[in-house]
Amino acid sequence: MNFLELAKLRTSCRSYQDRPVPSETLAYCLEAAQVAPSACNQQPWRFVVVETPELRAELSKNALLPGIPMPWVATAPVIVVLCAKKSLAVHHIAAMVSGVHYHLIDLGIAGEHLVLAAAEQGLGSCWIGWFRAKQVRKILNLPRSLEPVSLITLGYPAGEAKTTERKPLSEIAEFQ
Ligand SMILES: Cc1cc2nc3c(=O)[nH]c(=O)nc-3n(C[C@H](O)[C@H](O)[C@H](O)COP(=O)(O)O)c2cc1C
Repeated sequence: MNFLELAKLRTSCRSYQDRPVPSETLAYCLEAAQVAPSACNQQPWRFVVVETPELRAELSKNALLPGIPMPWVATAPVIVVLCAKKSLAVHHIAAMVSGVHYHLIDLGIAGEHLVLAAAEQGLGSCWIGWFRAKQVRKILNLPRSLEPVSLITLGYPAGEAKTTERKPLSEIAEFQ
């Protein structure tokens, strides 16, 4: 499988088998995230891997925002909470000067490394941005220094993958 094939293999998975993810597979995905680049090599990511059924149930019941029903979250055997640990120099001062939220870029790259590695290992995944960070922090007893930025569900897919439309290259890329 070349890179483009892997990138196309990853789609959002919203239905999971009741089958645990081996710890070596999780470690593989986390290692893929670990090697991601980051502004000033700050590596501001922290991955909270939630496997405990009670905590997963509580996250899916109480941490998701209303309006977009996501009952499938409860079926995922793993929920990775992608958190940012921001530094004063890069993520506050430099970000204020340039106007770029480096930590969000860094976490996006690391998270995508993680889901691509997961896809290569036969796992399904889905990014979840529609959640309440405050509730996540409370349920998982996270310190204030960690800012939950995204949730990512992981697990073996149940059912067929669905591909979604993409805008044509002519619309999203320009050459100057
Ligand atoms: C930052 C981010 C947040 C997202 N939040 C949600 C979400 O809260 N719920 C959901 O079902 N999908 C969510 N998604 C998945 C997108 O809907 C999905 O990636 C997009 O529709 C393209 O489909 P594909 O991932 O299958 O290629 C999110 C994706 C990203 C990158």
